[in-house]
Amino acid sequence: MSLLTVSGLTKRYSRGGKTLTAADDVSFHVEPGETLALAGPSGSGKSTIARLVLRLIEPDGGRIEFEGGDFLALGGSALRARRARLQMVFQDPLAAFNPRATVARVLDDPLRIHGIASRAERPRRIAALLERVGLAADLAPRAIHEISGGQRQRVAIARAIATKPSLIVLDEAVSALDVSVRGQILDLLLDLQREQRIAYLFISHDLGVVRAIAHRVILLDAGRIAESGDARAVIDTPRSAIGKALVAAAPRLNRNRP
Ligand SMILES: Nc1ncnc2c1ncn2[C@@H]1O[C@H](COP(=O)(O)OP(=O)(O)OP(=O)(O)O)[C@@H](O)[C@H]1O
Ligand SMILES: [Mg+2]
Repeated sequence: MSLLTVSGLTKRYSRGGKTLTAADDVSFHVEPGETLALAGPSGSGKSTIARLVLRLIEPDGGRIEFEGGDFLALGGSALRARRARLQMVFQDPLAAFNPRATVARVLDDPLRIHGIASRAERPRRIAALLERVGLAADLAPRAIHEISGGQRQRVAIARAIATKPSLIVLDEAVSALDVSVRGQILDLLLDLQREQRIAYLFISHDLGVVRAIAHRVILLDAGRIAESGDARAVIDTPRSAIGKALVAAAPRLNRNRP
């Protein structure tokens, strides 16, 4: 059984009397320990799909099955409990967290809210999480706005893994980082996936990054799936018009080609 199965997912927005279909009959699955990338031009519906899967917004149609259950049917405490297994990392942790909160506080919250560790145990857990993502323990009392973008993204990853998720949705999680920091964060994600068999729904407009990290890729065009398959096969030999256009517009990919 797949970890996540999305079928016929549809989300419409009305804008100035017109209807825009941001996700149009989208179906896919994610297997345990797998990275599925969603790529496509700006406005193609990547973040809409991420937000639907996380239930930050509700769909107009379709089904989401997560860990064998109807995710859209969950509410209240059942939803909260299941959410521990489905975490997220966004592009800008400064927007996701209270910038004045300390690193310790950001990591303490999920441990407390999901009842993962007692008050006495939590400092040790926080130190272990920081160590796991390659951060020094003395970062714990620092405020989120005082640390670097790369350190913040490591804190966001530490927070995401705190609840032992089976799936993490990453929406442009490395896009704002410079190239060397981006490489380090991608390596960390790969290590965590190997260790903990976490699946990633990895959203990026950067086909070079997708090719490096994803097993499979879905290319979106105006809310619809234009093409999908093995990440390297799709990126090296795109068949859809949007795939060809995206590859042609990706300079780093072209340089790597013979
Ligand atoms: N809350 C909203 N209200 C109205 N329209 C929206 C809303 N959110 C997204 N849209 C529209 O839905 C479409 C898909 O947006 P979405 O943010 O999912 O694209 P995206 O692929 O993530 O783009 P980007 O690469 O720029 O992040 C766009 O046309 C966008 O303008
Ligand atoms: Mg987006």
